[in-house]
Formats: sequence, C-alpha cells, structure tokens
Amino acid sequence: MYERELAATAKAMVAPSKGLLAADESYSTANKRFEKLGIPTTAEMRQAYRELLFTTPGIGDFLSGVILFDETIRQSTQDGTPFTKVLLDAGIIPGIKLDAGAEALAKAPGETVTQGLDGLRDRIAEYYKMGARFAKWRAVIKIGDNMPSDRCLKTNAHALARYAALCQEGGLVPIVEPEVLMDGDHTLERSYAVHHEVLKTVFDELYIQGVEPDQMILKPSMVISGEKSPQQASVEDVARWTVKCLLERVPAAIPGCAFLSGGQSGELATAHLNAMHVLFKDQLPWQLTFSYSRALQQSAMQIWNGQDANVAAAQKEFYHRAKLNSAAALGQYQPEMEKIA
Ligand code: G3H
Repeated sequence: MYERELAATAKAMVAPSKGLLAADESYSTANKRFEKLGIPTTAEMRQAYRELLFTTPGIGDFLSGVILFDETIRQSTQDGTPFTKVLLDAGIIPGIKLDAGAEALAKAPGETVTQGLDGLRDRIAEYYKMGARFAKWRAVIKIGDNMPSDRCLKTNAHALARYAALCQEGGLVPIVEPEVLMDGDHTLERSYAVHHEVLKTVFDELYIQGVEPDQMILKPSMVISGEKSPQQASVEDVARWTVKCLLERVPAAIPGCAFLSGGQSGELATAHLNAMHVLFKDQLPWQLTFSYSRALQQSAMQIWNGQDANVAAAQKEFYHRAKLNSAAALGQYQPEMEKIA
C-alpha cells in the first residue's frame, strides 16, 4: 500500500550531497553526554539543545532527514512550533528511533539483543500520524573472545528484519543498523570478517521476512581497527575494506548506506566517507552517505555547553560539520576545509 511512497522517501534520504542527523539519543545517552560537560540533564535542556540543532539556518542544504527520539518528536520550539514542522519547513524528513535499547542476551555472556518488537505495529501507526516517514533500529555486535556468537548474530538479525517488515507495512522506511562496535584491540581484517558475516546474516533475514530492498536504508558501521589496536588502519584502508565488504554483501537494489560514526572523531568520520567516494568513484551501485550522531554533534555541543549565549556559535559549528560531510558524500572534502569556519 505504501510501496511508492516508501521507495521515494528512501531515495530522498540518500539524495546526493545529503545525509542524516541522528538526534535520537535516548534519555540515558543524552544525559551522559550532558553530564560530561556539566550541562543539567533536564527535559528543558534537551529541548533547548535539539532546538539549536533543528533551527540552524541553512542546515536543510546538507540534511535529508533527522532521526528523533520519542521525547523529541513530541517537543516544539520555544515559540510553540512542533519540531516536526520546523524540520519539514527546512526540507528535512522527520524519522523516529523505534528500538528500545539493547539488553543482555540469554546464554551469550557479554552480548546483547535489541528490544522493542512488542506493540511495534501500533507505535509505527502513531509515529506515522505524527509525521515520521522513516525509522531506525540499532543492533549491537561486539568483537572479542568468542564474540560475536552465532546466537547473537541470528537473534539480532531476526529482530532487525521483523522491525523492518513492520515498518514497511506501516509506511515508514526502515533504517537497518547492525553496528559492529569499534571497542577492543581487533585488527582491520577481523573487523572486515565480522562485518561480512553480520551483513550476510542480516540480508538473509531481511529476505526471509519479505523486506523490500528498494524501500530501506542500511546504516552500517565502517570496517575499522579496534580503538585499542596498536595497528590503526589508514584512512584509505578503512575506505577500501569498508567498500569491499559492502560491495560483496549489500544488494545493489537498496538506495543507499548511511554510516554511523561509532565514536570516531568528527574529522576522521568525514575523511573516511570522503575517501570511499574518491577511491570508488563511479563503482558504487548505491549512495554512500552519513547518518552521524557524535561526529556531527560533539563539537557543537561542547561550544554550546548549555549556555544561551553560545547558541549562534554552536549552530555555526554544527553547520560547518554538516557542510563538510556533505562535501565528503560527493568526494569533494579537503582537510584544509576544516579551517574555514
Ligand atoms: O545508533 C547510533 C546513532 O544513530 C549513530 O551514532 O554516529 O555517534 O555512532 P554515532
């Protein structure tokens, strides 16, 4: 019933030079980031911060969509304009985080399975009415001794696929996010092998659940060395191994992949995306873009620091990072652009 709308929305989400802002941090994640900077962890401060992001002048030139959290999709600006309207007026599609976080997976020590399938059909209908046109569900995969287990991969892939099928049934484009964490001391090669297996398992399950590839977006992690690995791969190697893995495992029928940043610095996440375009120009069957939270927001949040007086400067920084990632999504980013604020 929604096929055409879904395919058009998915295409628009990965339109050339545009990417997504993940502003769907749960209460605990948002509060942790505020606490680090000494910002009060109140609903008012979360509202003020998200208003800062969404009302940044010109931000719609670089963002196709914003992923919201349940609290945020119900909030408005100080002058009473619903956030969903602010985004739509800027040409940005509102989306919603649908997963309810990861919990310990039985009989798989140290691993998790993402929750949120109960009552999902009704929640999708409610968010559709509120203006959301796409959704996100994040599965978490850890690399370590005996990890990831087969059980963890299959259980998470199954949940992702059932979420995605329900989304398409209810008119939301599913963002399918199997995040392989960069925590640990693993090599780039190990990261590649795990991503390979994860993507195979996820796409097998998506097929079983009847998820239409042209009506979804993949949100992958990059194939990257573990953050504690003594051997950190170069920007070019990350780009090469990431695209190699995606070309081997991701159907050409999907409109695009929008990467998470996963704890990379803003500059590195931009450089990696750019290198993929520079090295694989004209060889990519899908769009490759960004769907970052930290890599787009962390420097702006630090500048804001909870103070009204810093809003304009923080918006300038947020605009700058979004603009550089937009350039990276075209392979047109240069490190010198970092200095031009
Ligand atoms: O689920 C994770 C977010 O959507 C992306 O966050 O860019 O900070 O990894 P990140």
